[in-house]
Amino acid sequence: MGDLVKKIAVLGSTGSIGRQTLEVVRAFPDHFRIIALAAGNNTSLLAEQVNEFKSKIVFFEGDKTPLDKMGLDYKFLPLEDIACHPDIDIVVAGTSGKVGLKATLSAAKAGKKIALANKESMVMTGEIITAEARRNNAVILPVDSEHSAIWQCLRGETAPERLILTASGGPFKGYSISELEKVTAEQALKHPTWFMGTKITIDSATLMNKGLEIIEACWFFDMPIDKISVVIHPQSIIHSMVEFADGSIKAQLSYPDMRLPIQYALTYPERLSNENFSKINWNDMKDFTFEKPDYNSFPCLKLAIEAARQGGTYPAALCAADEAAVGLFLKNKIGFMDISRLIKQALDEHESVTNPSLDNILEIDIRVRERVLQMAGTNS
Ligand SMILES: NC(=O)c1ccc[n+]([C@@H]2O[C@H](COP(=O)([O-])OP(=O)(O)OC[C@H]3O[C@@H](n4cnc5c(N)ncnc54)[C@H](OP(=O)(O)O)[C@@H]3O)[C@@H](O)[C@H]2O)c1
Repeated sequence: MGDLVKKIAVLGSTGSIGRQTLEVVRAFPDHFRIIALAAGNNTSLLAEQVNEFKSKIVFFEGDKTPLDKMGLDYKFLPLEDIACHPDIDIVVAGTSGKVGLKATLSAAKAGKKIALANKESMVMTGEIITAEARRNNAVILPVDSEHSAIWQCLRGETAPERLILTASGGPFKGYSISELEKVTAEQALKHPTWFMGTKITIDSATLMNKGLEIIEACWFFDMPIDKISVVIHPQSIIHSMVEFADGSIKAQLSYPDMRLPIQYALTYPERLSNENFSKINWNDMKDFTFEKPDYNSFPCLKLAIEAARQGGTYPAALCAADEAAVGLFLKNKIGFMDISRLIKQALDEHESVTNPSLDNILEIDIRVRERVLQMAGTNS
């Protein structure tokens, strides 16, 4: 294997980000080599991936029968050990929720390149992860399309004045609160422009996803919350923008396709031509619109901005409350608007810790989740 081949671990390889990462790797066999794959319960797909990419290190939560049936030869390692393994150059952090938090930290401590999709790790522990990365010369490469766009706009620039995150507005843009009260999980799982995992799809429908992205952007680009704004752009062609002191604005555009920001994180600072990506046809670009977000119908966005302003452990509490509330909504135990109500209640009660340790954050995470279940009158 040549030195130029990047050796990759994909955490969450069976998910939306993981599968799209493997599509990029498949397109460039001379550039990338999969060393480790990690999944949760979908071990049938994981077995196929291990077989195809000859991954020598594996982690999974579920049943190992599918891997045994294929007679695969692999070494089983915990997520955190994979993330800091000496044979790996780039760790793709593509698990959902707080599952990947410790692994992302482990990669930061080991000085890895981290292609970070898992926004919850950055929102919950942004201060700790960025400090560890700085201390150990780890590089955090954004995968989320909005942060990738800003990162691309910032190349060759210094001192941005303002970051403008775009949002599709989700499937319920324009709905009134009374209409939103009746929204079902099935309706919320249909996103108009992106195909994603269930948690992020619901977060996109409530606009919590945009709120989490604002907090992530503060850490990624060292920007105060009040210099980050959101604009609704339903076509999802502009992925975000950066404004500079002279009023100039740079934007990054492409058809919505997560493989592009994933590939950019893996090939950075190079760009590679990928025949699977569609180039924009400007003759098709009839509607190109922008609107203000509706903070009243989508209170999650306001809650996230407020949590970021408060700092301390508010963002971690926000994440924990959101994950618990979204879980309840997906099980049809609460309504769509109850998600924001429960998060608000959890944040109103929250006693924040300043400069929290990882243990503080993990303890708050458990406590807030339990409290959300209690407030919803359920224990699961
Ligand atoms: N999808 C997108 O377009 C997108 C865009 C930007 C950012 N993100 C962020 O990227 C992250 C992943 O999103 P996604 O849409 O790819 O989610 P997803 O489709 O739900 O995938 C989650 C992945 O995590 C794995 N996983 C779950 N529990 C695990 C455990 N205990 N140990 C190891 N792996 C576990 C799942 O495995 P199994 O399926 O095998 O159980 C799956 O591979 C999220 O934080 C999301 O906010 C996603």
